[in-house]
Amino acid sequence: AVASYVDVLDLHGAPKTPTDRSFNIFFDAGSWHGYSLPLANDTATGFSGPFVHSLGDGQWVGARFAQLTLRNAASKQSIALRSVDSHAAPGYLVRRFSGPGLTVSQTLFFADSWHALVRIELTAATSLDVDLSVAGRVMPQQQKGLVKDGDTVTQTFAHSNSKLTTRLQTDGVAADQVTLSGTDYRIGLNQPLHLKPNQAATVWVEQTLVYDVRTEAPPPVDLANAWARNRERWTGYLKSVASSHLSGLPDATAQRVSVKAMLTLLGNWRAARGDLHHDGVIPSYSNPDFNGFWAWDSWKHAAALARFAPALARDQMRAMFDYQGADGMVPDCVYLDKAGNNWRDTKPPLAVWATLEIYRATGDKAFLAEMYDKLVRYHRWWFTARDHDHNGVAEYGSTDGTKVAAKWESGMDNGVRFDAINMLKNGEGAWSMDQESVDLNAYLYKEKLDLAHVAAILGKTQDHVQWLKEAATMKAFIQTRMFDMTRGYFFDTKLGSGDPVRVYGSEGWTALWAGAASPDQAKSVIRIMLDPAKFATVMPFPTLAADDPHFSPIKGYWRGPVWIDQAYFGVEALRCYGYAQQADDMARRLVLNAKGLTQQAPMYENYDPLTGQGYQSPNFSWAAASYLLLLQKQTSE
Ligand code: GLC
Repeated sequence: AVASYVDVLDLHGAPKTPTDRSFNIFFDAGSWHGYSLPLANDTATGFSGPFVHSLGDGQWVGARFAQLTLRNAASKQSIALRSVDSHAAPGYLVRRFSGPGLTVSQTLFFADSWHALVRIELTAATSLDVDLSVAGRVMPQQQKGLVKDGDTVTQTFAHSNSKLTTRLQTDGVAADQVTLSGTDYRIGLNQPLHLKPNQAATVWVEQTLVYDVRTEAPPPVDLANAWARNRERWTGYLKSVASSHLSGLPDATAQRVSVKAMLTLLGNWRAARGDLHHDGVIPSYSNPDFNGFWAWDSWKHAAALARFAPALARDQMRAMFDYQGADGMVPDCVYLDKAGNNWRDTKPPLAVWATLEIYRATGDKAFLAEMYDKLVRYHRWWFTARDHDHNGVAEYGSTDGTKVAAKWESGMDNGVRFDAINMLKNGEGAWSMDQESVDLNAYLYKEKLDLAHVAAILGKTQDHVQWLKEAATMKAFIQTRMFDMTRGYFFDTKLGSGDPVRVYGSEGWTALWAGAASPDQAKSVIRIMLDPAKFATVMPFPTLAADDPHFSPIKGYWRGPVWIDQAYFGVEALRCYGYAQQADDMARRLVLNAKGLTQQAPMYENYDPLTGQGYQSPNFSWAAASYLLLLQKQTSE
C-alpha cells in the first residue's frame, strides 16, 4: 500500500534565495530541517536543502545535499551516473541512477527529529572497487559558518545556538577526507569501497540539526535499524486509511486525499525545542508567519491526528496547555522563543472536543484524567473573563482591550459580523466585544456536553450532573435568543439590546454542529445552507453567504472564502440533523471541486467558493485535519 502513494505532492524545487518558500519541502518525525527533490531537469545526484525552519522565520542554509562522486578505484576514471527517476513517497524522497555496470539509489528519510539520513545503495553487476565521496553546497550567505571538525562538516549560524553537522558513514571504511572550498564541502571515504557482484553496498550521509547546542544532546542513530523503524512508523500511519464512506466518491480518491492530509499534518510536525515543551503541528511551513503552535489550530490537528498518530495528538494538546495561565486562559499561539507568545487573546473553545476525539480513537482514559482539570479551568475562564453581563453567555474579547485582538480571538480575524464592534471592560486585563457570538456559545454548549461525558467516564457523577444542567440552560438561550425567527438563521446578537447582527456566516451552523438547534430551527438553517445563492456554492459552505454585498471570494480571508474546518462543521451539521445524503453530496463537492486536490495540488488555507481555487498558505494543517475528518468515518468508543 505504501508504494502506491507516490508523488501525492510535488516535492521538486531548488531555492533561489534563502527565504524561498515557493515549493514544497519534506519534513518528518518533527524535524525542523527539511529537503526537496532537485528540479526535474536537474539530473545530478543529491537533494535540495536543508531548509532550517528554526532559524529566524525559516531559511535555506544548504543549496545541495549528498551529491555523489564515484571513481573506478583501479583506473581512477570517474563513473558517470544517469538519472533514472525521482519520487516523493510517504516518509521518504528517493532518487535512482544508473552508470556503466552499476545502479545507485539515494533514499532520504528521518531517523528521528534530529537526524536526516540519506541511504545510498550501490549495486554493481561485477566486482568493482570505487572511490566514493559526497559533496554539499551551502547557500552563499552561509559560507562563513562552514567548518571542518574531524570527520564531520559543521555549520553554525549568526545569532543562533543551532548547529548542523554532516557525516559520511559506512561499515568498515572510515570517512574523514573532509575538504572545504568556498560554499562547497566534500567528505570522502579513506579507502575504496568494495562492491561484490549484485550485492548492494550501503553508505550513509547523516545530517543532524541541533536547535540549541547548550541544552540538547541528540541520541545516536541506530543506522542498522533506522530504515526498518521508519517503515514501521509509516505503515502504522497508513493502515488507518480506510475506504471511502461517502457515496459516489471512489476509494482510490478518498485514500489519496487522506494520505495527502496525513503528509500535510506530518510535514508540519515540529518536535519540542526551545520553549516548546511538547511536539505539535504548525499551521503551515510555507508561510513564514506560521512558525509556532496556535490554539484552535492545535485542537483541530489533534482531533485528526488521533486517528493515525495518537501520541502526537496528545502532545499537540499538551504543547498548548503547557502555557495555560493561572486564570485558566490558553494563549492564542506559542513559539520556540516564548517571548513571542501571544497573550492578547485566546482562540475558540474546541479543546474538549479534541480531547474527546482522542479518547474516542484510543480509549485512553489516563489522558482524559490528565486533561480534565485543565479543560475545566479553560472552560470556566470564558465565564469569568469574557461574560460582560454575567448572563452565562460569553463574548470574544481581548486582554489588552483592542478590537483587533478580540477579532483574532474569534479565529475569524476580518469577519464581516465584527465590522461594527465596540469593546467593553470586564475587569483588569479582560475585555469583551459588545456582541455575543453564536459560534462561541455553540462551542461552549458543546464543551459542557463533552465535559459531562468526560466526567461520566472518570466517575465524577456530581460534575456530570452539573455540566448537563448548565448545558440545558445554554441550549435554551441559544434557541430563544440567537435564532432570528424572521430570517430563519442563527446570528450573533448585540449585548444589551439583543438585536441580531444579520450577517449570514458560517458561524450560523455551528449551532447545528453542536446540536444546540431545535429540529425546526435546523431545518430552516439547512434550507439556507443548501441555497446555491448563499452557501451551496461550487465549493460549498463559504464563510460568508455568496449574496452578501461584502462577499469577496478571492483572498477575502474570512469574508467569503471556504475554510475547510467551517465547511466540515457544515457537513456534520447536516449529518447531525438527519440530512445524510446532502451531507455526502457537499462533502464530495469539497473533495472534487477543490482545484487540483485529487491531483498534486497542496491543501490550502482557504478556497474560492465559486471556482475551488486554493488561496493563502499552501500545506495548511487544519485544512488537512478537516479533510481527514471528512473522509474517515467517525470512530466510536
Ligand atoms: C489566522 C487565522 C486564525 C488561525 C491562524 C493560524 O490568523 O485567521 O484563525 O488560527 O491564522 O492558522
